[in-house]
Amino acid sequence: MNITLNIQRYNPDTDEESYFQQYQVDVKPTDRLLDALMQVKRFQDGSLGFRKSCAHGVCGSDGMRINGVDGLACKTLIKDIAAHDGDTVTVEPLRHLPVQRDLIVDQQEFFEKYRAIKPYLINDEPVAGKERLQSPRERMAFDDATSCILCASCYSACPIPVEQPDFLGPAALAQAFRFLADSRDRATEQRLAIVDTEEGAWGCQNHFQCTRVCPRSILITKRINETKRMIKQSKEKESS
Ligand code: SF4
Ligand code: FES
Repeated sequence: MNITLNIQRYNPDTDEESYFQQYQVDVKPTDRLLDALMQVKRFQDGSLGFRKSCAHGVCGSDGMRINGVDGLACKTLIKDIAAHDGDTVTVEPLRHLPVQRDLIVDQQEFFEKYRAIKPYLINDEPVAGKERLQSPRERMAFDDATSCILCASCYSACPIPVEQPDFLGPAALAQAFRFLADSRDRATEQRLAIVDTEEGAWGCQNHFQCTRVCPRSILITKRINETKRMIKQSKEKESS
């Protein structure tokens, strides 16, 4: 089938603002959007900029907005975004992050927010035996959140940063939950202080857009709500 890719372009060296450029591509319904972008890059316009690495939904580098929905180009099949011959697919860079070139965004702010929640196990107690043991049930409490590939699709889908640019965002908050819920972690107070803020868990208004787009099916909004419950329970415990 023949479709049109309507791609947002921007070159900081030559363009004052972004614009859309159209490319015709011959694709199979079972091709991925990444295949179509590679076709443009290889055979039509080598100047098109986008990130990709693994091409299999593992590295998280090809997050972009596809027909207004955030996701990975390598996990998006043409048949799911273009039903008929002649259809147009619009591709834009992720939102809320500065565009460096075409579909490439500067991820610095996204990673600063991720680092702010201390995304690592904190436990200074001596290890009994060879490792810190955990039951399967304890592990299941946060299992889905461990599969985040930091693609920033959720960050782009979330409407909160439009009004509140300091909001930590869904990915960082899901990771805060991941360590708060880890039975081996000992930094609960420190972690709760970070997320018990308007920029943290309380900034979330349950729009569920993050959960809808996450390519790893992480129940992000649910995890943020569980974090809110942890904050409340900790305060109740303090005051009793
Ligand atoms: S939580 Fe999901 S959408 Fe957000 S960065 Fe991680 S994998 Fe991507
Ligand atoms: S290229 Fe690695 S996730 Fe898509």
